Amino acid sequence: MYNTLLALHSLTRWLVLISLLYALYRAYRGWFRKLPFSRFDNTLRHTTATIAHVQLVIGIGLYVVSPLIAYFLSQYKDAVHQREVRFFGMEHSVTMLLAVVFITIGSAKAKRKQTDPEKFKTMAIWFTLALLIILLVIPWPFSPFASRPYMRHF
Ligand code: HEM
Repeated sequence: MYNTLLALHSLTRWLVLISLLYALYRAYRGWFRKLPFSRFDNTLRHTTATIAHVQLVIGIGLYVVSPLIAYFLSQYKDAVHQREVRFFGMEHSVTMLLAVVFITIGSAKAKRKQTDPEKFKTMAIWFTLALLIILLVIPWPFSPFASRPYMRHF
């Protein structure tokens, strides 16, 4: 269960990044070129938020079953001084949650905007903030906080 969720969470990171980057490309392009907010843009907005929510649910599941998190929660006083354990126990989980909240807000606000440039602009700003957080807090193999592989086997 734990290994499956970990591999799934690792894989879904790429779906989160690809959908977010593509949504941002469409949002900036539409905003600066004053294009109409098409049905496709609306589907992309919605799909990007859905993928982020799926990753959030997997992340919460991982938080519940992870032995690393169990150690963090049960031995908090010692564990909080261990960089990698603290990173996953607090920093990664809380900041990623914030990033998903930003995507949710951006998607919901864009949906309610009256004009097409406003829709693109709202998506562009909120999704950019989320992307910056996500890029910073993903445990890349070269990350100074915690190093994990680009992909895992199921
Ligand atoms: C966009 C959101 C997120 C992305 C892109 C993301 C990405 C990742 C990646 C790439 C890993 C390393 C997986 C591996 O070891 O191969 C990881 C680990 C982990 N993530 Fe996330 N994550 C996100 C959100 C969350 C959230 C919201 C939570 C919890 C509420 C969470 C909890 C965890 C935990 C507990 C681990 C490590 C568990 C362990 O090593 O035992 N993640 N995440």
